[in-house]
Amino acid sequence: KTLDESTANARGDDIASLARYMQSKTCRNVFLMLGAGISTAAGIPDFRSPDTGLYANLARLNLPYPEAVFEINFFRRHPEPFYMLAKELYPGKFRPTLTHSFVRLLASKSLLHTCFTQNIDTLERRAGVPAGKIIEAHGSFATQRCIECKRPYDDEKMKKAVKEGSIPRCENAKCKGTGKTRRNEFGEEEKERGLVKPDIVFFGEGLPDEFHRAIPTLREADLLIVMGTSLTVRPFAMLAELVREGCLRVLINLEKVGDLGDREDDIVCLGKCDEIVQELARELGWEEELQKAWEAT
Ligand code: APR
Repeated sequence: KTLDESTANARGDDIASLARYMQSKTCRNVFLMLGAGISTAAGIPDFRSPDTGLYANLARLNLPYPEAVFEINFFRRHPEPFYMLAKELYPGKFRPTLTHSFVRLLASKSLLHTCFTQNIDTLERRAGVPAGKIIEAHGSFATQRCIECKRPYDDEKMKKAVKEGSIPRCENAKCKGTGKTRRNEFGEEEKERGLVKPDIVFFGEGLPDEFHRAIPTLREADLLIVMGTSLTVRPFAMLAELVREGCLRVLINLEKVGDLGDREDDIVCLGKCDEIVQELARELGWEEELQKAWEAT
């Protein structure tokens, strides 16, 4: 069933039946799959929305193609575009949205089993979702390290570098560096130090072990809610196909994506996630608590 704005009343019925299911005894383990669409209302552009998406607006960084900004081999040669973007995206100036606070409510009601997120903005943590419930499948800006020797780099120094727009370099004397040499300000030859990169999963890098370790737990899912993602990037996107037949799958997104809607009892709610989440909270009788949770962020 695909319910868009024009069938709002039908959508209302679906949200009412979803709320009833969530309050039933059979719905114990809720799993989430989150993408950049849940942070657009916080002022962070998503990647692929036409016009507003990041990939439509990176032309000014003169990249060979937009995704290059998150490619490890391109970053090794040209770290500048990523660090220009990092300055705009760096956590600290963005506030969680109602949708992030809804995730926190699911946890406080002991319904949240695991929140798989592709987002690197750490807004789930900022909203108060317990860290143990969050799998940041594409890493985050929370920590950083040298890409050569993997030595962690100081948080305060990183914040300063990103703010100044300078490129942080490894300070580990034992680091072999990039293998290239360069002349320092005294004209002496010295090894070029390794680049520091936030622990964000770039194209060409593997996803964190905790992502792979969490995949088998999807068989315990009674409800999977997919929000704000185009389900373009694998292996993350494949999670939606791994839940068992008896698990109810719900899409909350501006557009239909992936195979959501193909299973008989899938529920597809097209629209802005904050609005749909608010309707769902109302049906659940959580509207006050949602508002309070959000005001506390
Ligand atoms: N409410 C609901 N859906 C929204 C909203 C909103 N307010 N804003 C945007 N969307 C939808 C878009 O329609 C789109 O389907 O969210 C989705 C965002 O898709 P992408 O921009 O592709 O973001 P995402 O799916 O998170 O990208 C996945 O791609 O570049 C890599 O690693 C990066 O994690 C990222 C991955």
